[in-house]
Amino acid sequence: MDIHAHRLLILDFGSQYTQLIARKVRELGVYCEILPWDMPVEELVDFAPRGVILSGGPESTTQADAPRIPDCVLNMGVPLLGICYGMQSLAMQLGGRVVGADEREFGYAEVEVSGSSRLLGDLSDHLDAKRLDVWMSHGDRVEVLPSGFSSVARTEHVPIVAMEHASQPWFGIQFHPEVTHTRQGSEILRRFAVDICGCEALWTAEGIIEDQIARVRAQVGNAQVLLGLSGGVDSSVVAALLHQAIGDQLTCVFVDTGLLRYQEGDQVMETFARHMGVKVIRVNARDEYFAALAGVDDPEAKRKIIGGLFVEIFEDEAGKLSDVQFLAQGTIYPDVIESAGARTGKAHVIKSHHNVGGLPEHMKLALVEPLRELFKDEVRRLGDALGLPHEMIHRHPFPGPGLGVRVLGAVNAEAVSVLQKADHIFIQELRAAGWYERTSQAFAVYLPVKSVGVVGDARAYEPVIALRAVETIDFMTARWAELPYALLDRVGRRIVNEVRGVSRVVYDVTGKPPATIEWE
Ligand code: XMP
Repeated sequence: MDIHAHRLLILDFGSQYTQLIARKVRELGVYCEILPWDMPVEELVDFAPRGVILSGGPESTTQADAPRIPDCVLNMGVPLLGICYGMQSLAMQLGGRVVGADEREFGYAEVEVSGSSRLLGDLSDHLDAKRLDVWMSHGDRVEVLPSGFSSVARTEHVPIVAMEHASQPWFGIQFHPEVTHTRQGSEILRRFAVDICGCEALWTAEGIIEDQIARVRAQVGNAQVLLGLSGGVDSSVVAALLHQAIGDQLTCVFVDTGLLRYQEGDQVMETFARHMGVKVIRVNARDEYFAALAGVDDPEAKRKIIGGLFVEIFEDEAGKLSDVQFLAQGTIYPDVIESAGARTGKAHVIKSHHNVGGLPEHMKLALVEPLRELFKDEVRRLGDALGLPHEMIHRHPFPGPGLGVRVLGAVNAEAVSVLQKADHIFIQELRAAGWYERTSQAFAVYLPVKSVGVVGDARAYEPVIALRAVETIDFMTARWAELPYALLDRVGRRIVNEVRGVSRVVYDVTGKPPATIEWE
């Protein structure tokens, strides 16, 4: 059966949590897509979901020009679940009343559930009563229910925090089931997706791989496909997937910039070329990069040079291959949503960062993008299922310009080599202490300031290594990780003892904001 057959629509009203809803639903094995509330009606209808989740949103339904649920959605005849703003719109559009509150309710709340609820009944986080710990984030609330609805959950002060229709499959919850603080959140979404909408869990890593293999074969036929392999998660998974789908019709070009992590270039070749038998052309562009970067100390200028050179080299290599008609890319679903948002002028989060790459139009290659439907965690699951090394697939993110933005100021081969060794020691020790998985991103930075030290009996006057480790969910905000002193101590000692040219190591204790995660 088509793995997309049982699908849900997440109608987006602009909440920062909308992508989380989709990820939670996908985790249940149910395919879903996010479409904006003002999408053309035909496209919403054509999508033909088995149910619709109405997301939260930053606006107030009490405003005249606030986003509305399109009639076509209300008339689809499928179950509806409104979350926060989605519940308020549902209530209002079906004849209830929503009122603005003086204060926002934000954070934990305990709600009491009515036993008769199909969505929430018999759920409890406490032994003594039907009470749930949930996460709230709203200003407005439903004051008068539309006809046919009853309240199925309340808090001490608010009598309606969830509503259900007596005979139609229409539900609303004021709290957010998609955030982990709502402990029964996944179960609530499962009840909606599986029990109420009748979706089967068809969306599995094995199913996705099989489906994509068939699609890629149908798309490219006997043609040749080119892929820029970077060693990152996305392009690695594309390489493994396409290798299974089309074998030798795939040629990967791996541009070794000299700005990768310690021995990373060799590992990429080991995994793909030697182990899996993928056709990989390694272009050793180290010298070219160091020459182009010599004396350049402005971070944005460095980013431009690194990105520009990549395109030049990649194009050059591509030009040497005859008969290539397709270019494979590791575009993932959040990129698709963000660029759709940007097109309609409704992007809530637009990242200013872009990965190295972006080939000129004139190459005229058709795109193969087998990860377009997937979230990052799904890409990782695919990577595991395809047998890629765990270390490669579960790595912390690495910026496109690589160590080019982690050697502060002008970049040179010597500084990069020092940084690679220091960074390697830091990561090794984090892994050994079980802290690698507990941090979201950790790395060393090379500071081109000279600091005095005593090495042996001699005075040394050498650059400083800074260590950065952060915990974050979305990389938009981050906390510095409270690594144990003993671990920092070990890392500091090893770096000054083992890496020539470093006599001082410091730890970065700034959060984001105000500091960014990277130093440049
Ligand atoms: P910042 O430093 O802005 O970083 O807090 C947030 C996340 O983005 C990564 N980053 C980049 N990724 N090209 C990239 O592909 C870049 O130029 C770039 N700059 C930062 C950074 O590693 C972190 O994960």
